[in-house]
This record gives sequence, structure tokens and C-alpha cells, in this order.
Amino acid sequence: MLQGRSRRGVCKPDDTGWKKRDGMEQDEAWRLTDQLHASTGKGDPFAAAVRGTRMAMIITDPRQADNPIVYVNNAFLAMSGYGRDEIMGRNCRFLQGPDTDRAAVRQIREAVAECRDIAIDLLNYRKDGTSFWNALYLSPVANEAGEVLYFFASQLDVTDRVDAHLKTQQEKEHFEREVARRTHDLREALAAKTMLVHEVDHRVKNNLQMISSLLVLQTRTITDPAARASMDAMLKRVEALGTVHRRLYQSNNVERFDVTEFARDLATDLVRGSGRDDIRLHFDFEAVEVPVAKAPPIALMMNELVTNALKHAFPDGRAGRLSILVAPAEKYFTIKITDDGVGMPVPVEISGKRSFGKRLIETLARQLNASISWQSANPGTAVHVSLPRETAVSSESQ
Ligand SMILES: Nc1ncnc2c1ncn2[C@@H]1O[C@H](COP(=O)(O)OP(=O)(O)OP(=O)(O)O)[C@@H](O)[C@H]1O
Ligand SMILES: [Mg+2]
Repeated sequence: MLQGRSRRGVCKPDDTGWKKRDGMEQDEAWRLTDQLHASTGKGDPFAAAVRGTRMAMIITDPRQADNPIVYVNNAFLAMSGYGRDEIMGRNCRFLQGPDTDRAAVRQIREAVAECRDIAIDLLNYRKDGTSFWNALYLSPVANEAGEVLYFFASQLDVTDRVDAHLKTQQEKEHFEREVARRTHDLREALAAKTMLVHEVDHRVKNNLQMISSLLVLQTRTITDPAARASMDAMLKRVEALGTVHRRLYQSNNVERFDVTEFARDLATDLVRGSGRDDIRLHFDFEAVEVPVAKAPPIALMMNELVTNALKHAFPDGRAGRLSILVAPAEKYFTIKITDDGVGMPVPVEISGKRSFGKRLIETLARQLNASISWQSANPGTAVHVSLPRETAVSSESQ
């Protein structure tokens, strides 16, 4: 509202620019407004319109002390709840209340002092003490000489709009706070889950080490060479699973398993463990990661294939080369284990006591929905495994 104390006659048309904006119509408007006050203007259509409109309107006189109200229409009385006698002659600041924004009041005061118009939403108070949001539009009215004689103010109760806006704003802030809180909770839950998974992996790895130690102790008591060999093979399988868990434990990603990194560790460990320094290892790796559930069957399968090459391809101190290829191919990836050793005996025996390893490989291949083929590499053997990268591991286990 028109709370400011206007300095009389300080505003000239050139200062405010209002005359330029309103052009020729200003003179006519002034002529009509000049006669307008509470009780007169009855014969004037402009005054009648101002009196009758549903838009609350007031006029103040900045030439009088404290810029008092000199005209108020019925819509304003209805909106504010005051009687005309309670309003006339007062400065508009009586509409302010405890929650009226001081900065908004200051802006209005500055606009009045500088004789320029202003549109602003302001929290005002009715006579009964209830508040309402007032969309105030205030503009100076000057005479031909450019002296500001009146301020004209129209008001609109926009409580619903402002409340809806404030409500939307509050809801937005509420949701933003809620999203931030949930994000924080989820981050903490993820960190806790990651820690737990690592902890479980660590314990599984320790347990596998304990099983390995038990197998070693047990093997020492066995004198039958075939039984010892079986125990040794079983020890290697447990160690391969231990390597999987060491990799998972060291990894930051608990959901994906890096096949190439594992293959490198496994083959290096197995060659070192075989005591053979005449077998050269060769790696041909392209990065392949698979869901972590695939890690144990892939690990066991690779262990069988590399162990077979070390065990059967290079008899009697025959030196050679063992190469491992891991490469992605669209939805599949390939593991190829090639040796340049003596080659597979023909026909290949896949049943019976001595081919547990091969049967294990076939079972794991079914679990992984993988296809596997043994080919002669002239010299040596090439085992070609093609595995889907993403599909889940089948529950089949025989
Ligand atoms: N890379 C290879 N080079 C030569 N012969 C191989 C190769 N891989 C497998 N074989 C032959 O295939 C046979 C079957 O292998 P399989 O892994 O089933 O049994 P194993 O290695 O003898 O015993 P285990 O059950 O402990 O694995 C082997 O005995 C061996 O004769
Ligand atoms: Mg074998």
C-alpha cells in the first residue's frame, strides 16, 4: 500500500517517464480523476466505473502530510472490512501486520518517493485481524506540469494464488529434503551392504583356506597314488574358488566379476604350483565382466581346463606354450585355452572313473548355458568355450 511519505512536487514527468508511457490519454484520465473523491463524481462515467468495479481501489494525496487516502471504493471496503470513515485520511500502512514483509514495504516506499509505479504482492490485514495476500498495483497521477497530485492503487485479493504457490513451494522443499534424506539413507545402506559383502567374502576365503589345509593334511596320510591325485585335484578346485573370493574381496564392485583378471591369477598360480618352468604362459585378454553369480562356475571350469593342459599336454618334460584368450563377442564372450602339447587321445573318454574333470566341465557348462568344444590344435589341444555374459546361472547342478 501507499506507506511512503512522498516528497511533494519532486517528481516531474521527465523523472518518471509516466507521461511518455501514457501519451495523450493521460490528460483525459487526469480530467476524470481530478473530480473523483468519496462522495462526488456521480455524473462521471469513469468515477462510476471506479465506484462500481469489483477491483478494490484507493487514491492517496502525496501533497498532504503522510500521503493520506482521499478516495476509497466499495470493493476496497469489502475486501478490508473497514468502513469508509475508518479509512479516509489515513496512510495505508494501517493495512500492514506482523507478518508483512518489511522488504516489500520498503520497495513500495521507494516507488512512492521516486514517483514511479510498482506491482507487488503484499501480506495485508483486514479489520478483523485476518490476513490476505494483496496484489497491489500502484501508479502516480500527475498534472500537466508533471507534478504528482495523486497515487492510484488497485488491489486484488490473491490469497488463493499465493497460498497455492507457497504450498507448492513448501511441498517442493519438503520433497527435496525427503529425496536428500532417502539418498543419504540409501548411500549408507549401500556402504553397509558393500562392507558386509566384503566381510562375507573375506570369511568365505578364510574358510576355503581352512578346507585347503584340511585336504593337504588328509592327503599326507594317503599312500595310494590314485587317491592322492584325486585329493590333489580336489585341493586345486578349492584353491580356484579361493582365488575367486580373493578377487571379489579386493574388488570395489561387488556385483561384477572381472574374468580376465581372474584368469591371469588362476593360470599364473597353477603354472607356479605345477613346478614347471618350461611351460610358457601367454595371455590374450580383452576386458570381460560378468555378474558375480557366474564367478564360481566359470572359475571351476577354467581351473579344470588349465589343470588338464598342465597335467596331460606336456608329459615327460615336454616344454610348451599354454595360451589363454578371453574376448567379448556381443552378448557372449569366449574363453579359449590352447596348448601345443601332445593332443587329446582319440576317442576322448568322457565317462567312467577317470573323467570326473571332464564331466564337471560339462555340468558347469550346462549351468552357465555355455557351449564347449575340444579341437585339435596341431599340435596340441584347443578348448573353445562360448558363454552368455548376462543371463543368470541355471540352478542345475549334478
Ligand atoms: N589338454 C589336454 N591335452 C591332452 N590330453 C588331455 C587334455 N585335456 C584332457 N586330456 C585328456 O582327457 C582325459 C580326461 O580329462 P579329465 O579332466 O576328465 O580327467 P583327468 O584330468 O584325467 O582327471 P580329473 O578327473 O582329475 O580331472 C585326460 O585323462 C586326458 O587324457
Ligand atoms: Mg582333469
